[in-house]
Amino acid sequence: MLKIGVFGVGHLGKFHLNNWKEIGEVELVGFYDPDDATAKEVSEKYHLPRFLDAGRLIDASDAIDIVAPTNFHFELCEKAIRKGRHIFVEKPLANTMNEAHELVKLAQESNIKLQVGHVERFNPAFLALKDTELNPMFIEVHRLAQFNPRGTEVSVILDLMIHDIDIILSIVKSGVKNISASGVAVMTDTPDIANVRIEFDNGCVANLTSSRISMKKMRKMRLFQKDAYIGIDFLNKKTEIIKQKGPQDSNVFAFDIETPKGKKTLAIANPTVPEVNAIKQELEEFRGAIMNNTKTIVSEIDGLMAMDVAHQILKKIGNNILVR
Ligand SMILES: NC(=O)c1ccc[n+]([C@@H]2O[C@H](COP(=O)([O-])OP(=O)(O)OC[C@H]3O[C@@H](n4cnc5c(N)ncnc54)[C@H](O)[C@@H]3O)[C@@H](O)[C@H]2O)c1
Repeated sequence: MLKIGVFGVGHLGKFHLNNWKEIGEVELVGFYDPDDATAKEVSEKYHLPRFLDAGRLIDASDAIDIVAPTNFHFELCEKAIRKGRHIFVEKPLANTMNEAHELVKLAQESNIKLQVGHVERFNPAFLALKDTELNPMFIEVHRLAQFNPRGTEVSVILDLMIHDIDIILSIVKSGVKNISASGVAVMTDTPDIANVRIEFDNGCVANLTSSRISMKKMRKMRLFQKDAYIGIDFLNKKTEIIKQKGPQDSNVFAFDIETPKGKKTLAIANPTVPEVNAIKQELEEFRGAIMNNTKTIVSEIDGLMAMDVAHQILKKIGNNILVR
């Protein structure tokens, strides 16, 4: 049995508790949350002990799950690493780059597993592409959310765009050559809406828009590569591939287009989207990495790389930010 202690049982922490309860070979030992009302509700609903001392919960656990606000990630991770505990920490890994570098150093000096909650890696619409070769040259992303005060302790870049940054870095295995960005602080003191262009060394260009002040929700990524267009709808969990029709595409919808090089037949395919609960899947993978001593799928290095790009974006926005 792997003993798990949960830090932070607010909105997302409760989803984590629900999922941990369904995962085998795991024992929830308790939780730590400074908010009395939340703690009372959770103790009663989940029949789970509340720890009033974070250090004691770390001592009682084999692995800890940090679902506290981002500004507490560093201190909780540091305490747990120093006691040799494995860590699942919600995204972003930390608040500042210094904190993130320090955590990577500490994690690598110790023998622990660290996984960052970049949950979109486990989104069924993305998992549907596991057998598809992805080598995009242009990427267009829209991640739009309605305003919610939760998460606004950080900018929209660290709150929402970081999901797409992590996915893009997992696909485009190339260095970042140049970033241009602008952002606007509308409801908070940090950018609530931003547009970013990332140019990679291999020529790929990613154009990302994130907003947390939209009327409608959208989470779409479109990949354009030499042989295909790939659409990933993270919100509605749908994936679409349009490419030149091949012999294996007998049962897919196809249509003809005229090109300067003559007629081409294109096929639209919807790869099978697995029925996966992304949060449960990421927590199961974390448990598996500890039990089988394998690498975590979203490691501390992945968390650091996403933060590095996010902070480069924030620096660029520094000069371009428009405050209402
Ligand atoms: N992966 C995702 O898609 C996703 C989505 C939402 C939030 N998050 C991340 O999850 C974290 C929590 O977000 P949320 O929406 O649940 O916020 P929330 O405000 O609903 O909950 C946070 C909880 O942490 C508690 N808390 C405060 N200080 C603490 C401390 N020092 N130790 C332990 N608990 C503490 C608060 O009392 C609260 O109950 C954030 O880092 C956020 O970025 C990730």
